[in-house]
Amino acid sequence: MSETGIARRSSLHGQWSSRLAFVLAVTGSAVGLGNIWRFPYIAGENGGGAFVLVYLVCIVIVGLPIMMSEVLIGRRGRRNPVSTMTLLGKEESGTGSWGLVGALGLGSGFLILSFYSVIAGWAVAYVIESASNTFEGATAASVEQVFNSLASNPLRTGLWHTIFLAATAFVIARGVERGIERAVRVMMPALVVLLLVLLGYSAVEGNFAQGVRFLFEPRFEELTRDGMMEALGHAFFTLSVGMGAVMAYGAYLPSGTSIMKMSVAVVAADTAIALVAALIVFPIVFANGLAPDAGPGLVFQSLPLAFSQMPGGAIIATTLFVLLTFAAWTSAISLMEPATAWCIEKLGLTRALAATAVAGITWILGLLTVLSFSTLSGVTFLRGTFFDNIDFLSNSILLPFGGLAIVIFAGWIMARASTASELDPDAGTAYRVWRFTARYLTPLAVVAVLLRGVGLI
Ligand code: PHE
Repeated sequence: MSETGIARRSSLHGQWSSRLAFVLAVTGSAVGLGNIWRFPYIAGENGGGAFVLVYLVCIVIVGLPIMMSEVLIGRRGRRNPVSTMTLLGKEESGTGSWGLVGALGLGSGFLILSFYSVIAGWAVAYVIESASNTFEGATAASVEQVFNSLASNPLRTGLWHTIFLAATAFVIARGVERGIERAVRVMMPALVVLLLVLLGYSAVEGNFAQGVRFLFEPRFEELTRDGMMEALGHAFFTLSVGMGAVMAYGAYLPSGTSIMKMSVAVVAADTAIALVAALIVFPIVFANGLAPDAGPGLVFQSLPLAFSQMPGGAIIATTLFVLLTFAAWTSAISLMEPATAWCIEKLGLTRALAATAVAGITWILGLLTVLSFSTLSGVTFLRGTFFDNIDFLSNSILLPFGGLAIVIFAGWIMARASTASELDPDAGTAYRVWRFTARYLTPLAVVAVLLRGVGLI
């Protein structure tokens, strides 16, 4: 196929109405529970400083180049991630086996969405808790109790999991361009404003100095092998890379836009929001004698404590959990899109049917997470509960492997002319920096962390 033939390949699922729409959609995908729920709690579990440093390094030398690779591959292939990788694999190297990378990504997507939807369900439940003034006069003990009684109730969390997943499938069924764009355009700025208000509160009322020290003073003795893998895995998770979500969105991106500029903008916004969230949480944690390593309940316990002490706390709390729900929703949509696109293209299903099928499988898988915090909380193996294992497998293993394959494909398998033409407006030095990083630094960093994780270095 000629160069122009490739450039003219068009998506089967429509295109973003504008460049901004794409940036908004990828930002909506990136910013979610990863920033506000997961980052603070795993930073807390892994001793802060050193973990945060490794995470930041991974964002720059691993996350960013892989995000660019995914967008360029997606836009060039213009199919679901499996077909795109198969197609480009054949074009660039004569073998369609690269499609396996896409297939692995679909699997990761199911696993991630299965627990994502349960945690997002907690956020929805907290909208109602906040609105009904549950947190008035809260103490460290009472917020813990509110959280535990929610998480340990499989019917309640199962119900919200169901509702959240149905809402996600609903947007997916209507098509990607509608819905997401509008939601992100309004919700994201609102979320940022509210986070800044909370940051102000935390700075004044929390133990800000101790929070800052905890997050930014590297104490390497506290960073375990698993902690390093989690930092790497979280860089993938928070940027939505390594499983094809960004690739699927790239497929709907009009040609001729600067992939580098867009990726840098998304990565910067995502990282800033995660750091602000952690800077809100830890000063509150330290001021109230909470444990930084409280685990998945950390945000759900620390923030309500702050709200209970603020004027208008119930309203602020309700708004925050509404915005968090929306942020999670736009991320969940991107988790569901690759498998849905595959079902439409490969099985010939309608969009609505494909979304229903994907949601159905995810729903069943999600029950494992629902039960991990309740009925089956005592069942542990390998890493811990079912949730702990699903989380570790998908984020610390599958995403890094998927990302590694993607960046090797973009850096080594694709011809220079192919990647250069996709990254076109970023010619010259920018292109060379990307290519060098994608070929050497990123794979080396990922391999080094994985080898260290299994104890080989
Ligand atoms: N990046 C999202 C978050 O931080 C989660 C996500 C992971 C979305 C992988 C899509 C793909 O919440």
